[in-house]
Amino acid sequence: MRACVLMGSPREAGNTAALLSVFLEEWEELGHEARVIPLYRRKVAPCLGCMACQDCLDSLGCVQRDDLPGIFAQMADSDVILLATPIYAWFCTAPMKALMDRVIYAGVKNYGKQRGPALLEGRRVASLVTCGYPPERGADLWEEGLRRWCRHGKMEYMGMFCRRDLGRAVPFLDADRALAVRDFAQALALAIKVEEHEQKI
Ligand SMILES: Cc1cc2nc3c(=O)[nH]c(=O)nc-3n(C[C@H](O)[C@H](O)[C@H](O)COP(=O)(O)O)c2cc1C
Repeated sequence: MRACVLMGSPREAGNTAALLSVFLEEWEELGHEARVIPLYRRKVAPCLGCMACQDCLDSLGCVQRDDLPGIFAQMADSDVILLATPIYAWFCTAPMKALMDRVIYAGVKNYGKQRGPALLEGRRVASLVTCGYPPERGADLWEEGLRRWCRHGKMEYMGMFCRRDLGRAVPFLDADRALAVRDFAQALALAIKVEEHEQKI
């Protein structure tokens, strides 16, 4: 199975990257594939709210010319979309937010003269997060926002893995955290397998 990983941290050797690299190691050891898209190295401009996308029902139809279509195609062509991000001001980082805005508008044809489909309907979404506050106060608003984003886009929310940054004096990744993120990768893969099996019978 294939994961499309949207990497939203600007720090390529930071906390989110550390957690993600163990996740990917486990994911690949389980025999699955992952494509990582480093959002700080791509260009996805903020949504202009022009509504032009709502007049185009079968594709994004956005007037802006940037990296969104390629990223969207990879999201659509995956078994699970993993949003990996540090928490910035109680939500994801700005490049990921720009992507989420564009995807939830251009990808959901609810607002034009004629209603159309949710282009990512049925896609699965999970999240890997790091934050400074305890997760229940640092990542709670992000998780709720992500749940609603999924519901609105008719996507399936599969869950979040989050660990706290305890400051520079404490190494971010220890053996317990590495084990826990491996468990998360295993649980995610198993949940998808079970779902796919149930869809077949
Ligand atoms: C600009 C900025 C805003 C932040 N805002 C929050 C926040 O609202 N809540 C929180 O819990 N942590 C916040 N943090 C802490 C980061 O989420 C945390 O240190 C994270 O592990 C950094 O991940 P990285 O190493 O991948 O960049 C913020 C950090 C920065 C730099």
